[in-house]
Amino acid sequence: MITTIYALAFYFATILLIVGIAYRIYEYAKVPAPLNIATTPAPTTVPGVWLRMFREVALFESLFKSNKWIWIFGYMFHVGLLLVLIRHIRYFVDPRYVPDLIWLGIAYIQPIGKYAGFAMIFGLAGLAIRRIVVNRVRYISSPSDHLMLLLLIFIGVSGFMMQYVDRTDIVSVKNFFLSLAYLNMFDWQPLPDSLPLMVHLTLVLILMIIFPYSKLLHAPGIFFSPTRNQVDNPREKRRLAPWAKALENVSDKK
Ligand code: HEM
Repeated sequence: MITTIYALAFYFATILLIVGIAYRIYEYAKVPAPLNIATTPAPTTVPGVWLRMFREVALFESLFKSNKWIWIFGYMFHVGLLLVLIRHIRYFVDPRYVPDLIWLGIAYIQPIGKYAGFAMIFGLAGLAIRRIVVNRVRYISSPSDHLMLLLLIFIGVSGFMMQYVDRTDIVSVKNFFLSLAYLNMFDWQPLPDSLPLMVHLTLVLILMIIFPYSKLLHAPGIFFSPTRNQVDNPREKRRLAPWAKALENVSDKK
């Protein structure tokens, strides 16, 4: 029964996550950007914009320039999360179908990924404390800002519970997810009976479901930010809002 509920919930959440993010990206891509508002000093060529974007995504460059504390905690959390997620790949792929080299990479991440979980939770705790302790940040924080941090912290804590307190049968977890991935509708492998696993998976489901409606959308959103993705070329390239273009056509005809 529990297995069926989680199987259906994971199908539902996965579809919502993929369709939701795809729709958001479609919406972002459609928004007109008629003015050149690249934050200066900005690159004057397209490769320059790629480089700027890379520094922004890989190093959180503008955050580093504006606030060192948020950068330290934010960077710790995001890098920790990335390593933890890479470590999780083994729960979802069948090594028989993955090239050896990739599998080797995932295997090497395993020991680092374990400690990355600590970095992730430490970073999240720093960000959460800042939201409570710094008056002006607390003032502008909405309940969802706090809840999002708590959700991620509890996902991490329940993960650690499985690893250090109440060990879960990871092979069964893997068999369950592979049986979902192979779309064996009537042959879902049973999930192991484990409270921390149920908590971990329920919180992950909540995360997947709220992702397309929440501030977590900054992950794809950064690539559509005109202040970051525009080339600083207002003299070389003229940008016209649709309404201005229409006016121009009228005056041309006169
Ligand atoms: C369906 C998705 C997921 C499954 C099946 C899953 C499963 C697991 C399992 C079985 C463990 C225990 C590992 C062990 O004992 O060695 C674990 C640990 C952990 N999980 Fe997840 N998890 C999922 C998603 C996530 C997500 C989205 C996050 C972060 C936002 C996360 C964060 C963690 C952390 C921090 C740990 C402890 C450190 C580690 O083992 O890497 N998990 N997870």
